[in-house]
Amino acid sequence: MSAEPRLEATVSLRVNGEDRQVHVEARRSLADALRDALGLTGTHLGCEHGVCGSCTVLLDGGPVRSCLVLAVQAEGHDVVTVEGLGTPDDLHPVQHGCLEAHAFQCGFCTPGMLISAVALLAENDDPDDAEIREALGGNLCRCTGYESIVAGVRRGAELLRLDGEG
Ligand code: FES
Ligand code: FES
Repeated sequence: MSAEPRLEATVSLRVNGEDRQVHVEARRSLADALRDALGLTGTHLGCEHGVCGSCTVLLDGGPVRSCLVLAVQAEGHDVVTVEGLGTPDDLHPVQHGCLEAHAFQCGFCTPGMLISAVALLAENDDPDDAEIREALGGNLCRCTGYESIVAGVRRGAELLRLDGEG
């Protein structure tokens, strides 16, 4: 029996503010394209079936699980990964907040948490703890450091508001 044909596609998308092209098998997820074709390994793959949230990225500003989106579906769209939030020398306020609050243990869930938090703060710059928990409800932390993660996002929101006033 002959092997199945491997359908491939070239996908043009904007990633972290840059126009990029990736050549991928049509069955590949956006997470695979980001990690394997573009080397953006900050997007983590945990469950690979939409449960853990570690692969969360912004697609046209909204949080999506990149393991559930085909790379070809991102054609022409805008993607932001954790690498697009800040740099080690110029952290995003939410990254600063999480650093101050020690909001990570192994760090595996952190990129997805940060992306979900940034999406929340784009809609609501002063969320209470219940709203933060709700927004992060789809992100699992196997180290169960949830209290410090909520504190980190709360501090990130405060820093973001201070930035806005500056
Ligand atoms: S790897 Fe995508 S939700 Fe778990
Ligand atoms: S810090 Fe380890 S999974 Fe969240």
